[in-house]
Amino acid sequence: MTATSHRVSYHDTLRTLSEASVEQHFDAFVDIAWDDPAYAVDPRDERWVLPQADVLGSTEWYRSLPLERQIEVGLYRQANVTKVGLQFEQVLIAGLMNFAFALPNGSPEFRYATHEATEECHHTQMFQEFVNRAGVDVAGAPRLFRALGPFLPLAARRVPVGFFIGVLAGEEPIDHVQKAILRSGNEIHPLLGRIMQIHVAEEARHIGFAHQYVEHRAPRLRRHQRFVLALAFPVIMRWLADAILVPSRQARRDMGIPRSVVREVYWRRPESRQMLRDLFADVRMLAERAGLVNRASRVLWKLLKIEGRPSRFRSQPSSAAA
Ligand SMILES: [Fe+2]
Ligand SMILES: [Fe+2]
Repeated sequence: MTATSHRVSYHDTLRTLSEASVEQHFDAFVDIAWDDPAYAVDPRDERWVLPQADVLGSTEWYRSLPLERQIEVGLYRQANVTKVGLQFEQVLIAGLMNFAFALPNGSPEFRYATHEATEECHHTQMFQEFVNRAGVDVAGAPRLFRALGPFLPLAARRVPVGFFIGVLAGEEPIDHVQKAILRSGNEIHPLLGRIMQIHVAEEARHIGFAHQYVEHRAPRLRRHQRFVLALAFPVIMRWLADAILVPSRQARRDMGIPRSVVREVYWRRPESRQMLRDLFADVRMLAERAGLVNRASRVLWKLLKIEGRPSRFRSQPSSAAA
């Protein structure tokens, strides 16, 4: 593809994404029947038991808890993951505003970035409403992430490619886990099911945009910038994925998960390791395509235990799933 035709197709993709946002979007308080009795949150409901698709739910420890404890831990866990998701999205919205603030007139990214921020605002509202109705006072992300939260969005203006790598580091794991739960066929609470369904539908566009942006902009950076970003790439992925997937110290205490179980699940067990690696198949493909891989960065991917074969196309089923 020539440089001009590549640019044209980038612009076209962004326009298609924007038009899709106009055509299909959800409002947290229009598209969810919060007061439908079927959506009521009953803290003794067996549907709060964690599915196997949640690595914690698949442990011996969890499975051998009495049913009431499984329900209690399950509700807490699901509310906490939701809270972490919304905190991450708050950082994302602030970053999108910093990013759009610096864009010149006529920039192709302005419109889509703003559609994305609009959608994320609705996600934070629906997530917080769920947490409130779950009635558990969860803290969400680990302390370090919460402390850095107000500063991370500044990266969107200074190092936008790095920022969108961070966006993927959060969106890919959340999306992966939600899709696994929806596909598992387990009976999930209809309120949570509806929220996940809305989220998965809109995240597909957000993830598509971040991939496009990084792939289009990274090759246009200076060599030394690309070198540094290649090294930062796996570090950002692993740090943010841990912040989202691993329960914080507070959450572990609240759920009473023994330390040995935490160590096993995150990420010593072979199944957990495989899952961690599978989460990043699409971003490994992106790193290759965007020219953000070098010899030193390959070592980092490996040290951080997220190396592996890149996908050949986005959302290719993982080896484990196949
Ligand atoms: Fe979202
Ligand atoms: Fe998103």
